[in-house]
Amino acid sequence: MRIVLVGPPGAGKGTQAHLLAKTLSIPHISTGDLFRANIGQGTPLGLEAKSYMDAGRLVPDEVTIGMAKDRMLQPDAANGFLLDGFPRNLGQAKALDEFLAEQGIKLDGVLDLEVPEDEVVRRIAGRRLCRNDGGHVFHVDYNPPKVEGVCDECGGELYQRSDDTEDKVRTRLEVYHTETEPIIDYYVQQDLVATISALGKVDEVTQRAIEALKQNG
Ligand code: AP5
Ligand code: ZN
Repeated sequence: MRIVLVGPPGAGKGTQAHLLAKTLSIPHISTGDLFRANIGQGTPLGLEAKSYMDAGRLVPDEVTIGMAKDRMLQPDAANGFLLDGFPRNLGQAKALDEFLAEQGIKLDGVLDLEVPEDEVVRRIAGRRLCRNDGGHVFHVDYNPPKVEGVCDECGGELYQRSDDTEDKVRTRLEVYHTETEPIIDYYVQQDLVATISALGKVDEVTQRAIEALKQNG
């Protein structure tokens, strides 16, 4: 299966992608995680991405599209993938379509996670991420780790993202509305979109997502 996950910052894309990828046995490809890994390793790509991410703005398409394509060409993605945070504007969506056509493959569905803005702010303010694996995500109230500051899955140190402050979240939400939301219409025209509520417990949202993907496929 080849799936795109879309939704505002803090909707729970990373949380759901991590679980769905396990259930569907396909890799979870998050451009945000790839950028953060590059920043952590101090690569030139990471250095370029950092200033945009810290401002809550999109990293330029030239950088992002090449990185996403490289990842989709890795052997573990040959039979499918779950894209989280890509595409994020119409240029990226069109570039993805061209890439898929070149490879002779198609998207199976686009899962759109809906969540009100006040909940977004609560989720982002309490989020903690694992330094070893960006897919290990916790929340100080909603999904606390067993030991404070320590990842349940791998024992890694938990930290707060530098773009998770209130003013940056506002910028990220604005960017989501102006640049990312138009891709939902683009995919509605291809009859690919399933919209679900991302409110409720994490496993309830996962169940909703699996049902929606079944109906779509
Ligand atoms: P990215 O890393 O993609 O961030 P984002 O889209 O802003 O999304 P988040 O990671 O903030 O939220 P999420 O929806 O994954 O929520 P999560 O599961 O963590 O991008 C960051 C930056 O990188 C961008 O601003 C941009 O600069 C750059 N970038 C990335 N991709 C790009 C692209 N394609 N083009 C250009 N630039 C790009 O959940 C949030 C919290 O809520 C967690 O604490 C979690 O535990 C909790 N939670 C989750 N589900 C629930 C639930 N059901 N109930 C209660 N709490 C929950
Ligand atoms: Zn971990």
